[in-house]
Amino acid sequence: LSEPTLTFAIERRTDPLPDEQREAVLANPGFGKTFTDHMVLATWTPGDGWHDARVTAYGPLTLEPSAAVLHYAQEIFEGMKAYRHADGSVWTFRPEQNAARFVRSARRLALPALPTEAFVESLRVLVDVDQAWVPGTEHGEASLYLRPFMFASEAFLGVRPAAKVTYSVIASPAGPYFSGGLKPVSIWVSSEYVRAAPGGTGAAKCGGNYAASLAAQVEASEHQCDQVVFLDGLEHKWVEELGGMNLFFVRRDGSIVTPELTGTILEGITRDSIVELAKELGHDVTERRISIDEWREGVASGDIAEVFACGTAAVVTPVGRLAWDGGEVVMNGGEVGAVTERIRSTLLDIQYGRTEDTHGWMHRL
Ligand code: PLP
Ligand code: COI
Repeated sequence: LSEPTLTFAIERRTDPLPDEQREAVLANPGFGKTFTDHMVLATWTPGDGWHDARVTAYGPLTLEPSAAVLHYAQEIFEGMKAYRHADGSVWTFRPEQNAARFVRSARRLALPALPTEAFVESLRVLVDVDQAWVPGTEHGEASLYLRPFMFASEAFLGVRPAAKVTYSVIASPAGPYFSGGLKPVSIWVSSEYVRAAPGGTGAAKCGGNYAASLAAQVEASEHQCDQVVFLDGLEHKWVEELGGMNLFFVRRDGSIVTPELTGTILEGITRDSIVELAKELGHDVTERRISIDEWREGVASGDIAEVFACGTAAVVTPVGRLAWDGGEVVMNGGEVGAVTERIRSTLLDIQYGRTEDTHGWMHRL
């Protein structure tokens, strides 16, 4: 990476959370509930570009009720993690990929691009100031979840790209995303809702996609399922992804299939990494369309042995059950499969520095 194009002023707070209270949080962090002492802020305006970049005390933002984001949802975000290795050093995983996706999301939502160097620098400065918040190896596979985001902060109700934009990064210590530990999740096939359509925002990481997924998530909960699988918007036939995770199918012969990137699913960085790792582990990996019928029938016939979901927050999470209006199938007896387990541990070993990073994926913060 070249030199950062943006310098972040450091405004350390004088009243950080006392050590004992922070340690109590780190011992049982959950997901996305508690935030560190500081946050990053920067402002963009058309004349000045990015400016006023700083690390400052975490706290409420002041917005005009007319701020465009509150009306038209011009907003994007990213999700990544800082991992502490056994020697105490702190690393993140393929941050330049998140930076590149943030630029693509920005373009789709007509927001200004934040240069990769500035994006990575913003993570570095926040983690540096709040380094005591990165869980140590004594906390197992915990991490500091980093949430960069950008939104239209201009006070204006006209529908056009905002002329004032705020960038921020907040950080939150994270244990497992699903509270049940590494327990297979159940998935609901919504017959009503879609997440994305061709030409829409499915490949962008914008808040609106998640807002649009919530009614389907409620439907899933009503059917005792943890997550929803979204099918394509045109034929309502092709498996796309979950609300916040990509999907992989492990066949009985060891070959692996994942839905191809059609422009309507998020280009997951975990997904991309697993495609590579699975090939190295000897699996034949294909990116292609897979229909919901192929999933149902493949499980019923024994051709599909394991299914797992993946993403930064959820890492690799087995899918134990697929249910729809009128039926269900159970994968691998509802247990964690051996291939899922191996891929998960291969990835985690790299992220936690327990194995050599032969891909150059880890970036020291
Ligand atoms: N799909 C969606 C809709 C997501 O929100 C996420 C999470 O970021 C993913 C997939 C997985 O992406 P990644 O592996 O880059 O975290
Ligand atoms: C992530 O995996 O980082 C996500 O953003 C998924 C979800 C928490 C929205």
